[in-house]
Amino acid sequence: MGSAREQDIKHILLTEQQISDKLDELAAQIDADYADRDVLLVGVLKGAVMVMADLSRKLKHTRTSMDWMAVSSYGSGTKSSGVVRILKDLDADLTGRHVLIVEDIIDSGLTLSWLISNLRSRGVASIEVAAMLRKPDAAKVEVDVKYIGFDIPNEFVVGYGLDYAEQYRSLPYVGTLAPHVYEG
Ligand code: XMP
Ligand code: MG
Repeated sequence: MGSAREQDIKHILLTEQQISDKLDELAAQIDADYADRDVLLVGVLKGAVMVMADLSRKLKHTRTSMDWMAVSSYGSGTKSSGVVRILKDLDADLTGRHVLIVEDIIDSGLTLSWLISNLRSRGVASIEVAAMLRKPDAAKVEVDVKYIGFDIPNEFVVGYGLDYAEQYRSLPYVGTLAPHVYEG
């Protein structure tokens, strides 16, 4: 018998092991690209918390600092509109910094696209993106993402930082929700 939470998951898309293996690969690439440079990892709250924690600990040669931002996208219903409001800004001054945005998921790409231009305008030395998940079929804008974990189908997913009504973030895997959860 699984827990109540597990019964809410229709299908496990990515296991804990698959996620960990992929983050090993991404960390090795990042280490190779940034060796001996100081990088500011910018996490987007709250979804990116797990990716940030695990990816940052796998970096062996990159010197990192960490900062966090919280944004909200305005739109009709659950859809992102590209109109973004900063709920919590970074503490760090970005002038001359090498910034690596750490994201949980890229859906339409509108939030990330806004974030990149916002941060770039603060005088960064460089800016790149590492995202755990991407839904290619949902893309509304092209975003240049250097480090990508997995391309997934255009379905709502939870776990590994991602929530439905603030639940399921702590699941160690990524899965799709059973219909009974959102149908009430
Ligand atoms: P856009 O569309 O601007 O939005 O790329 C990205 C943000 O939308 C949220 N998002 C999801 N959250 N499961 C979630 O729990 C999903 O399947 C999902 N798709 C998008 C997320 O906050 C992401 O940063
Ligand atoms: Mg997010």
